[in-house]
Amino acid sequence: MLDPVSWKSSDGGTYRRYVPELAVSGGKLRLIEQTLLPEKLEYIELDDTESIFDAIKRLAVRGAPAIGCAAALGLAAVVRKTEFNSSGELPAFAQKTAARLAESRPTAVNLFWALNRCMAELKASNAASTGELKNTLLKSALDILEEDIQMCRSIGMYGKSLLHDGMGLLTHCNAGALATGDYGTALSPMYVAHEAGMKIKVYADETRPLLQGSRLTAWELHQAGIDVTAICDNMAAQVMKEGRIDLVIVGADRIAANGDAANKIGTYGVAVLAKYHNIPFYVAAPYSTFDLSLDCGAKIPIEQRQPAEIANGFGRRTAPENINFYNPAFDVTPNELITGIITEKGIITPPFEPGIRELQNR
Ligand code: MRU
Repeated sequence: MLDPVSWKSSDGGTYRRYVPELAVSGGKLRLIEQTLLPEKLEYIELDDTESIFDAIKRLAVRGAPAIGCAAALGLAAVVRKTEFNSSGELPAFAQKTAARLAESRPTAVNLFWALNRCMAELKASNAASTGELKNTLLKSALDILEEDIQMCRSIGMYGKSLLHDGMGLLTHCNAGALATGDYGTALSPMYVAHEAGMKIKVYADETRPLLQGSRLTAWELHQAGIDVTAICDNMAAQVMKEGRIDLVIVGADRIAANGDAANKIGTYGVAVLAKYHNIPFYVAAPYSTFDLSLDCGAKIPIEQRQPAEIANGFGRRTAPENINFYNPAFDVTPNELITGIITEKGIITPPFEPGIRELQNR
């Protein structure tokens, strides 16, 4: 079990942290090796570009905001341990490192958002020495992490207004503390409601092929003392029909300007089921997940992953050799299936386009 950690936010509040998995330790990026959960809780420490790239690619760290934070902290760690002959060499090296980390996964926009922000702040800095430049990068990364925790907590406060005692909730994949700086996006309203003494019952879709729902969501909610039930993905329709679900909340990896939202494969199916059963379907995400350069979800790049994840996922062959596999990691839920988007600045309801545009000025 994790020891409860409290966190003093810059808004002056002290809050419980749920899974503080991302940090800088001795100059290295420290993170939970999520592929081992729920059996083992182990941390790894990294400070070279290829192992950070690899940790993101193989989902040792995953979830849109978390990979943005990890890439930013990782960039700072790699640059910190590198020796430069002159401060002029540092920005080009940082740019090359950022470009490599950005190749790790294509769908979650938070990765590019975080790396671009770190590089922009580095370029804009007046720092003269390599030491100061290294500190500038580290500060940017730590700011991103701190802001992410605050944004997630705010999402939780707004999202809690949708919940009431005795409610049944369904979520897909893991959009919790493990997927963010802490609190999560989709899970944050559940944490905040639980802190306020509300009794909720959460159903976690298992989330084939990599089981983020049963391995990670069920693990972190159980750690927090929230009533959680894991179901296989193909049970969601039946669970809804039985009247067990009052509300669905999922996260997002990228939201286009019209509100179409990419999230873990299977989310679109859950949204269709929710519509059929008249169950409100909410997406929860911070502003770093919006990509206003894309007018609709069809333009969101969808990561394709290895067949082995389907054929041989957890050490046992579950499909014949020599057949075809198709393994898109994400799908896009069209805006008309979304009841509302819970952000750190409030809940946006349809029509989404003006609401999303206006969000930038709030
Ligand atoms: O492939 P993953 O595990 O990185 O996919 C994660 C998701 O789809 C999450 O729901 C999304 O990133 C939101 S995390 C707050």
